[in-house]
Parts: sequence; C-alpha cells; structure tokens
Amino acid sequence: MKDTEVIAEELVFRPLPHVVIEANVNPQEFATAQSAAAADYLAYWEDAAHELEWFRKWDQVLDASQAPAYRWFPGAQCNIVHNALDRHIATANKNKLALIWEGEAGDSKKFTYYELYREVNRLANAMRSLGIGKGDRVVLYLPLIPQTMIAMLACAKIGAIHCTVFAGFSAKILRRRITELRAKLVITADGFYRNGHLISLKTIVDEALMGDCDCVETVVVVNRANLDVDMSEARDMCYDALVRQEHSEAATEIVSADDPLFILHTSGTTGEPKGVIHGHAGYMVCLHRSLDWIFDIKPTDIFWCTGDAAWITGHSYVVYGPLIAGTTTVMYEGHPLYPQADRMWDIVARYGITILYTVPTVIRMLMRYGTQYPRMHDLSTLRLLGSVGESLSRDVWLWFYKNIGHSQCPLLDTWWQTETGTCMITPFPVSVLKPGAVHRPMPGVSIALTDSQGKSLPAGEAGHLVITRPWPSMLLGLYGKEELYQHTYWPLGIDMYWAGDIARRDEDGLVWIHGRSDDIMNIAGHRIANQEVENAFLTHKAVAEVAVIGVADKIKGEVAKAFVILQPDFAVLDDRNEVIRMLKNHVRKELGPVAVVRSIEFVNTLPKTRSGKIARRVLKASETGTDIDISLITED
Ligand code: WTA
Repeated sequence: MKDTEVIAEELVFRPLPHVVIEANVNPQEFATAQSAAAADYLAYWEDAAHELEWFRKWDQVLDASQAPAYRWFPGAQCNIVHNALDRHIATANKNKLALIWEGEAGDSKKFTYYELYREVNRLANAMRSLGIGKGDRVVLYLPLIPQTMIAMLACAKIGAIHCTVFAGFSAKILRRRITELRAKLVITADGFYRNGHLISLKTIVDEALMGDCDCVETVVVVNRANLDVDMSEARDMCYDALVRQEHSEAATEIVSADDPLFILHTSGTTGEPKGVIHGHAGYMVCLHRSLDWIFDIKPTDIFWCTGDAAWITGHSYVVYGPLIAGTTTVMYEGHPLYPQADRMWDIVARYGITILYTVPTVIRMLMRYGTQYPRMHDLSTLRLLGSVGESLSRDVWLWFYKNIGHSQCPLLDTWWQTETGTCMITPFPVSVLKPGAVHRPMPGVSIALTDSQGKSLPAGEAGHLVITRPWPSMLLGLYGKEELYQHTYWPLGIDMYWAGDIARRDEDGLVWIHGRSDDIMNIAGHRIANQEVENAFLTHKAVAEVAVIGVADKIKGEVAKAFVILQPDFAVLDDRNEVIRMLKNHVRKELGPVAVVRSIEFVNTLPKTRSGKIARRVLKASETGTDIDISLITED
C-alpha cells in the first residue's frame, strides 16, 4: 500500500504498517469504540473512569438535572494527584523519570516520580502550615521551571485551587486576577531567562500588590536566577527556606468529583477574561483516555509538549496528562530560537523525544529558517507529532511531517479549547490523515455544524461548531459568573455547547476549522479578545475611540490592527510616528507582550451597528478585501 494518495483531489496519508501494528488502539478497536460510544456515551466514559483509581466510586455517571451545569461522576471521591503521582510510587514507575527540565542556558534537572512526589509533598506541607487548604485560591506567576509543576501538584494535593498567570502578563493583569480570586498566596520566581534576556518577575508581583491589595498574606519566591530581590519581611518567603524543613510525606486531600482543581482565565467577547473552572474527576478521565488513545503512550516514551504551563495546553499536556499516563514529560524554559534555530531539534535529539506536541506558530517560525537546522540533528526517535491552537495550512503541515517526522510519524492536528480541557476533535495515529483537517470527534464526543439558530448544515457548508453532548472534562463553570456561563456557552439550549468556532465537514466527514466566529483573535495561538485590546487603548488619554481587528500574519497567524480616533489635542500633533510608538508601548504595558499590535491607523469615524456597537467586521472585510458572510454574523 502506498502511504500517500490523492483522493477526491485531496492529499491523504495512510497510516504506515508499523504504526497500525503497534498502536494502542487499532482501526478495528477504534471503529468498535466509536459505535459503542455513539450508542451509549455514558457507558463509554464510565469504562474510561474505571481505568483510574478512586477513593470512592460514583453514584451516577452524569447528573444532568441542573444542566447546563452538568456534573460528572457525582458522589465520587478522588484526587487527580493520587493518579498523577501517588499511585506510581507503588509501581515500577517509582524510579522512572517523571520530568526532564532544561533551562535556556542549557542547565538541566531531572526528577524521578519518587523525587517529584517528595518535592510536591514538601511544598504541600509548607502550604498547609501557611494556612492554605481546600478551596483556597493560589496564584502562580511562574516561568517554565520545575517548581511550577511542583506548585500545581502541591495545590491539587491539598485541595487548593491553582490559578496560573502567564509570566508575560503585566502587573495590572496579575493584580486583577489576584483580587478577583481573593488569593491568599502567590508563588513566583525572582526572574527567568527568555531569548538570552534575564526577565525579572518579583518586581512585577511587587507592583501588582502595591496599595490596597489586602487578600495576599504570603508571597513565596523561587530562586531561579540569583537576582537580588526586595523581600518584604512580613509577606515574602524564600521557596527553598520554606520547604527545606518539611517532611517528604503528606496526606492527599480527599476531594469530591467536582471540587475545583484550577481556574484558568481565557478571553470571551465581552468584558474581562473569564475564569474557566476545571475539576478533578472528569478532567483526569478524559486526559487519561487522550494520552492512551490519541498520543498512544508506551512505557518507553519521552513526551514533549511545548506549551507554557500557564495555558491549558501546559496544564493538560505538560503536567497532568503525562503524569497520569506515567510517562516522562519534558519542559523547556526558553525560546525556540535560542541560541539558534535548532534548539528544539537539539532537545529532541539529546533526550530521545518520541512524541512532540507543539503549536503552528512555532512550526511556521522554525520553517522560515529552513531545513538545514533540523538536518543538523538525529530526529529518528520521534514517532508521533501533534499540533494545537490554530489551523495548520497544507504547506506547514507538509514541512513538519516531512522534515521533522521524516514521513514516518503520524501528525495529529488536535482541536480543543481551554473550556474543553482535553482534545475533542483529532485524528488517531491509525487515521488516514488529510493535511489541514482536524479529523473527527473523539469517541464519546458528538458535534454538529449549524447555522445561527442551531439547524444542522449539510456537508461542505461552513457553520458554527457545537458539541451536542456533555463530556467529562468540560468546564464546571466560570468563576463567579454563573449566568454568563449559560449565555456564553449554551445560547441555543442545554444540548448545544457553543464553541465559538466556524468549521465545515468535507465529503469524507472530516472537520476543517475556519476560525473564530466571534471577536476573539488568535495571536500566536493565544486567545485575546478584540475588546481587551480596545480597552487597553482607551485607558490612554490620546484615544477617543478605537476599534481593533485581527489581521493575518505569516508567523503569528494573526496580529492586532487598531483604528484610532484621537482626542483633539493629540489629533493636531505632527509626529504621528511618535503617537504610534507611545500607544503601542502603552498597550504593551497594560496587557504584556502577548497582545501584539502590528499597526495603528488614525481615522475620523468608525463604522457602527444599529445599536451603536463598533462594527469590527466591516473594518475587517475592507482590510482583507473580502465580502462579509452575513449568515454567520450574530451581532446586530
Ligand atoms: C483554536 C487551546 C484550528 C480554536 C487548546 C479554539 C484551533 C481556540 C485548533 C481555543 C486547531 C484550537 N485548528 N484552530 N487544531 N485548536 N484552535 O482556549 O479557535 O487557548 O476555539 O485552547 O483555538 O484556544 P484555547
């Protein structure tokens, strides 16, 4: 059988024989699971749950009585850390590597499961002695270092709720998260290395906590970079001094199935980013299944997901997922281009990485540097490639598949969201792959493509992507915003989760993602609402009105473009470039470097909808020279 064929004018890649023979789930088993799950999805997920350890099993698989506040495995008692760490200590995994960490400068640390377990227990004990317990919110403002993973697991172990804030976010954003969550404890580092620069973090925490931020009792500071930082005697503690004396055994808190595990903020179309809540039970069940079935984990794997621990990808596929699967997870602190464009390939070769899960923006960036960099290294240990966060265009897909996977590794383009917790629509290693398509929903997951009213559309037509059955790793809600949860995700009823994406199915039933249907940009795989960037502009005195749209960018996928009406005093200034520089700096200071504003155009008017909202779509259509597809617009 040839491995490449062109069917119906589409390029497809058939699974290689050795992949099919060795896969955890072969095509036959996959088809059986698919039809069994379609017939009885609750039984399917219950089977998946039985594969994990519980302190007490559930009374019921799903309680839909308060839908859309679905509750999975009610009555169950568990703790995700029991499955991610504790249970491994009694098996041969005890002395296996759990984490390989590499700093940007090339320094490295390795932890066996037992070593990681002991570190987590020490911090768990220390946190308990600081008065942190079940339900308390702990903000983690940390780079990609081992203590980040340790802190997440220690929180979970004692039933506290972690909320990571990306180390690229500003003091203002950090402060908003801390005050919204009324966090008692913040864990941070003195600084970290990124692209050859030493970036200080503790100073940002100090700025965030200035004034009347009275909820935070303790700030724990990890010494990552030997920086000389100001320590407030009453509030700040050094991480090493705190954990040094602690015992390396600690009881794992028994939590209920839907006790919150973490809160992670993500952008919605209105107002501030919302805190998406995930719990222990359903989240761990789907993660376990996805590592086993999609990523096909074997005892000898070394798994590298390049996501930051502060994004959902890092939570699910750097920390919890790989540890639940008992595999070795890799974490790299620094930039993919440091010191040069072969850093990722160097890491793959040195640790013998077998599974590489990354994002399109990184692949596009590395692709620009050409094939000589991957050719410098032996990438033959790789056996599976994955991507998430944005669509992979055909040329990028093929570059990754051929030059990194040497046409030997299935490339899985996985679709999911912060809210879904784990992969939802994805190929399996044994699937026939079509570059650009995210394939089919996982067994146990049902989707539809609909018009704005929820009517299903025929194959070939693009429509709104909805998930038509609840799934275990679904969000439990939005922190402090019950009504918004309902309006945002279930506008068409309790059996249609609204993903906010536009997609279509092709003639083979495979799903292709077109992009967001709402005003959320995808900048280098990070969700940022147009309104968030507009709000940042509006806090500058020069700005009277502003509209922000996403425009295409070769590397980042999308970047922001702003149309600004200046206040009269500023409109008369001659040096427009200076105004542009000032506004760009301002937005960067407000939001951090993630919100990339590429260009600013000064205008005298902005198009508005009938109710006076800024019609960003009109600007976008004129920018891209496209017609607006009125049928998919839901705003007035
Ligand atoms: C987009 C990231 C195309 C989509 C895990 C979704 C994708 C948003 C893909 C979620 C993909 C994610 N192809 N688009 N394979 N995966 N997206 O919450 O628009 O940061 O709604 O979660 O990213 O982004 P989030």
